[in-house]
Amino acid sequence: MFNAGRITDIDARKPLSPAAVAAIEAALDRDAVIVMPGQDITDSEQLAFSRNFGPLEDGANSGARDSELRLPLVFADVSNLDRRGKIAARDNRKRLAALANRLWHTDASFRVIPAKYSILSGRVVVSKGGDTEFADMRAAYEALDRRTKEEIEDLVCEHSLIYSRGQLGFTEFLPNERVAMKPVHQRLVRTHSVTGRKSLFLASHIGGILGWPRPEAMAFIRDLIEHATQREFVHVHKWTQYDLVIWDNRTTMHRVRRFDDLNQVRDMRRTTVRGDTPTAEQEAA
Ligand SMILES: [Fe+2]
Repeated sequence: MFNAGRITDIDARKPLSPAAVAAIEAALDRDAVIVMPGQDITDSEQLAFSRNFGPLEDGANSGARDSELRLPLVFADVSNLDRRGKIAARDNRKRLAALANRLWHTDASFRVIPAKYSILSGRVVVSKGGDTEFADMRAAYEALDRRTKEEIEDLVCEHSLIYSRGQLGFTEFLPNERVAMKPVHQRLVRTHSVTGRKSLFLASHIGGILGWPRPEAMAFIRDLIEHATQREFVHVHKWTQYDLVIWDNRTTMHRVRRFDDLNQVRDMRRTTVRGDTPTAEQEAA
């Protein structure tokens, strides 16, 4: 069983003591996903809270030009709202790109330095559907047989937004997304810098394994994702308004489940803490 941790004695809206920051980091090292209920937080409070854990990176609001965004660039707007705050139309390009969030993924694995923590605030939640599911990539790794562990130890995957969006047939990328689309290299097995535990670094952003024929690579990645998302490795988070959920992208995958997004408002705002280092060497630019 994979269960998220719960922190109820820290107010994320107020400045944190070093001890509180350390307690949250230790909880994430142990539990990988943390729920902090009852955090009715503003955007500026969320930014201040998030910066306790390191520099932030901009949200990849793919499909939308900057001028079409509802929130400052530093947020990933994971709502179903358009720039005016109205429910996005069925053919809204940002909506169509964001449907790839229903595929298992880790945030920003398509960046050379992939994300560390994601911090997601549930400002308006829906009563039916819209759960966020998390899979524990440490337990999934540990459950592999020895031969598979040896086989994958040094494999390097190519990650790009093009691959995850492409799985759903979305191809309308904008010029400013080209930087985020160039495939980057990530190790398939990574070791947590604090705990030393190994985990699978999987995402639907993967489009190949270096040195492998593409169909063979993709068939294998599918197998691994299927293995890693068996129920025993998965925690389902059902949202209550003002939940603040934090996860370590280095040790988990996640996905959002379907909900009635053309009729019900779901306003979720994500901040993303940058990771420290690349997991693999990159091709020369
Ligand atoms: Fe995500």
